[in-house]
Amino acid sequence: MARVDVIRVKGGAPLIGDVEVGGAKNSALKLMAVALLAQGRSVVDNVPRITDIAIMAEVLRRLGCQVTLEGGRATIDVPAEPGSEADYDLVRRLRASICVLGPLLARTGYVRVALPGGDMIGSRGLDMHVSGLARMGADISGEHGYVIASAPHGLRGSKIWLDFPSVGATENLLMAAVRAKGVTEIDNAAREPEIVDICEMLTDMGAQIDGAGTSTLTIEGVDELHPVRHTTVGDRIVGGTWAFGTVMTRGDVTIHGVRPEFLDIALDKLVTAGAEVTPGDNAFRVRMEDRPKAVDIVTLPYPGFATDLLPMALGLASVAEGASLVTENIFDGRFMFVNEMVRLGADIRTDGHHAVVNGRHRLSGAPVRATDIRAGAGLVMAGLCADGVTEVAEVHHIDRGYPDFVADLAKLGADVERADVPEPSYDF
Ligand code: EPU
Repeated sequence: MARVDVIRVKGGAPLIGDVEVGGAKNSALKLMAVALLAQGRSVVDNVPRITDIAIMAEVLRRLGCQVTLEGGRATIDVPAEPGSEADYDLVRRLRASICVLGPLLARTGYVRVALPGGDMIGSRGLDMHVSGLARMGADISGEHGYVIASAPHGLRGSKIWLDFPSVGATENLLMAAVRAKGVTEIDNAAREPEIVDICEMLTDMGAQIDGAGTSTLTIEGVDELHPVRHTTVGDRIVGGTWAFGTVMTRGDVTIHGVRPEFLDIALDKLVTAGAEVTPGDNAFRVRMEDRPKAVDIVTLPYPGFATDLLPMALGLASVAEGASLVTENIFDGRFMFVNEMVRLGADIRTDGHHAVVNGRHRLSGAPVRATDIRAGAGLVMAGLCADGVTEVAEVHHIDRGYPDFVADLAKLGADVERADVPEPSYDF
């Protein structure tokens, strides 16, 4: 009989102690794609040990790179002529593999990447990636589930206005522009710390970029980039997950490896809820004694409250004193997991992109199912505040973004285990 992994958590214990957070998934994945822009060996350090990184390594291998992943380091040897195709088999497992579009087009003048399709948090279009590259002179078509882009005579710098500060589109256009002829200006660009990280690696490689971390990126294309060694920025979403878990369980945790200023709004919300937050150098301490108070939260592109912390915000609201209004502005399917929270006894009602949450003293343990990475982590945190046992299934989602999650939880005092259980089959 087939077996599947679950995370089983028994609620009650506060999270107490110290936790180390590694490099940001959403930076490391793109830094690996950045390596494609220069022939030779690039090294990316502080890479998290998660499934998504292993899939990205496979994407690069199929493009002709040699990639080793060892001890939090990705070593990537890029050939003189990398391949040009990312197939559906990989892209459907790792949507982020779409980020090879820009660098490959810039380097080889031709690229064919599978369309990732929708996923559990929403429809997630690619129109801004495509129209931006078209403005830079690429010829783009779509057929048989692939986007095909060519620019046989190279890309040319141009002015691009994004309708929305899309993280992925900003990254793809940035990675294309660094090797285009002339100057590209990306307006309404995303400002996430992960974008700044990518800009820093590109600059070390010889790229000319102005405005990293602002809404206007100005990039002067260069003919050649050289390989470098780069250390990934800490994962603010993993850090934020620990911070919310600490407040929900009324614990005391020092989170290392994340700069607190990257979580300014999230930490301010925790303070409003009654927590004590002490910022340190690439670390911060979160302490909570009483029951959290309700806070209203609105997700927005950085520096706004991160959509990836929305499940934790709903978890906090579910056990807070009072009613919270939580608004999601980035992904149309982000509330998909609310039904799982309701199974844990949470009082949440949604209408479009708003959720009204009436906090309860305690939740009530039940079997639930992770629907995406962040929902999975949020459900485990909610399970820490529930009476009895919560069993979270489909933990492969959590493995995509949280290295050593169960071991870290146990170290912080949670009553938690990972178990494999038989998968029911209903043959007839
Ligand atoms: N969008 C479009 N057209 C485009 C591009 C985006 O309509 O051409 C829409 C999307 O459909 C979505 C919104 O714009 O509704 C935001 O998309 P964005 O491009 O900013 O997000 P992304 O690059 O697809 C990254 C992270 C997400 C994170 C978001 C927002 C990676 C691999 N993924 O996605 O992380 O939620 O930015 O911060 O970097 C996660 O780690 O769990 C995760 C989902």
